[in-house]
Amino acid sequence: MPGSWLILVLAVSSAAALAHAATVEHTFNVGTLSWPRICQPGNISITAVGGVPGPVIEAYEGDTVVVHVINDSPYDVTIHWHGVFQRGTPWADGPSMVTQCPIRPGSRYTYRFSVSGQEGSLWWHAHSSFLRATVHGALIIRPSAGAYPFPKPDGEAVVVLGEWWDADIVLLERQAFLSGTQIPSADAYTINGKPNQTEKFSVRGNSTYLLRIINAALNTAFFFKVAGHTFTVVAADASYTTPYETDVIVIAPGQTVDALMAAGATPGCYYMEISSYQSAMPLRLGSFNIDVATAVVEYVGAAPTTDGGQQAAPARPEMPKPTDTATANGFYTGLTARVLPGRPTVPLAVDTRMFVTVGLGLSSCLPEQTSCNRSAPEAVATMNNESFALPTTTSLLDARYGKAPGGVYTNDFPDRPPVAFDYTNATGLLAGGAAAALSSTGRPTTKVRALRYNATVEVVLQNTALLGRESHPMHLHGFNFFVLAQGFGNYGGAASEQLNLVNPQQRNTIAVPTGGWVVIRFVADNPGMWFMHCHIDSHLSIGLAMVFAVEDGPTPDTKLPPPPPDLPRC
Ligand code: C2O
Repeated sequence: MPGSWLILVLAVSSAAALAHAATVEHTFNVGTLSWPRICQPGNISITAVGGVPGPVIEAYEGDTVVVHVINDSPYDVTIHWHGVFQRGTPWADGPSMVTQCPIRPGSRYTYRFSVSGQEGSLWWHAHSSFLRATVHGALIIRPSAGAYPFPKPDGEAVVVLGEWWDADIVLLERQAFLSGTQIPSADAYTINGKPNQTEKFSVRGNSTYLLRIINAALNTAFFFKVAGHTFTVVAADASYTTPYETDVIVIAPGQTVDALMAAGATPGCYYMEISSYQSAMPLRLGSFNIDVATAVVEYVGAAPTTDGGQQAAPARPEMPKPTDTATANGFYTGLTARVLPGRPTVPLAVDTRMFVTVGLGLSSCLPEQTSCNRSAPEAVATMNNESFALPTTTSLLDARYGKAPGGVYTNDFPDRPPVAFDYTNATGLLAGGAAAALSSTGRPTTKVRALRYNATVEVVLQNTALLGRESHPMHLHGFNFFVLAQGFGNYGGAASEQLNLVNPQQRNTIAVPTGGWVVIRFVADNPGMWFMHCHIDSHLSIGLAMVFAVEDGPTPDTKLPPPPPDLPRC
């Protein structure tokens, strides 16, 4: 693996002072690489685009991004551009069987989309099976006018947080499906694909760095710290925030955080460290990796510090406990938007209201789960008690475009759960009266919610305690949403009086508080089939998802465009 890695001191604004409308073009060869195991001798075969993480896509706001994906791997693959709105390009969004059939081994597909009206740190990842574990990378959109709405940093660094398995993730996923179990916890956490104590960031004293932190882990939220340093958060999910001072960053799978770090400590070496945030209650001991991953932040030219003649180890930050929900919640709820002229403001009149439970429940094995224990219930994940299954013959967008949903999806995703109950009271829920109505006995379904073009949609996402409370990072494709309020317990009407309609954070992925709720709002002005799902892959794969079918608008440019000619066929 490559060794030390200098934080680039970029002329961030000068090169960008010209108006941009360029095309940024990449070719991604998705292939099989031989990669070292972590902390064990030998190599394994992984599927990746050149390495882990894969290439960084760098663009300016308003650019067109063109990525030719050539699938030289043995697996079906698609790539999703996480957080990109895909206005007018719904066929380029990428989730397998939602907006396209997968790119088969030996085939190719070209994604074309523009990055307009968005700035900041996003990312790309495989959106088929669990391949995201190794097929991911950063997608950075710089302001076309050249200036950030915060003091210009002296340099910047991409910091991709990940999870690593010393195994072929697709095979692990297959085994988990057949047996109705979860994949084992990760063998290690990684920073820029590197295990503990391997990655290095060089900094100059008295300089400020913009860290573009991306949580690419399949299943784990992280606490992030750098010993001896604090941060000013300036953006999350490529939406500017009111500058937020903190010594700990909390980041759920799918989220990004842009934070300024002043290199103002005594010159020396400091550990950057990530540890997991475990929101599940009851905590499933043994179900997660308690290790940390560190990288070294090294001041250029600092004399090595010594300790009794030995070179001293870098200083370590003190990490929160894995179950520190108070710290997680403090960070998650502390962010507000930086209100800037010309940026979207909260729509005040709501057209469509939904109340959607999100959580885990119990079901029985499906016939095709051939090694499943049929005498015991297995975990499923649901939204309003519907466990989502992807279609198998045609993508949802294909079926919608062809006006032939029959046999592919139905338009009856419910606006509320089948029964109202005490959602977050963990005592005896499954044994009680709600159990019969809420144990998902049938097969998973493929239900979508149609939305009128331009409707303002408010969704309350309510976590349940049926099988255990847990913070689910819910991601919406095709849009950012405003996060108007969040809290613990059951959402009540009174809470609606405390909606932040002035400067709520905008995100594409919100960590619904464990045993709590969140109110989000967005304008359905982007026709297409947009996935909303938990960004924990082991919950997505057992059904924690639904789809919004945003209808066409009145003008030609608000109608679904025809599919590109090279769109993969099923
Ligand atoms: Cu980042 Cu549907 O995914």
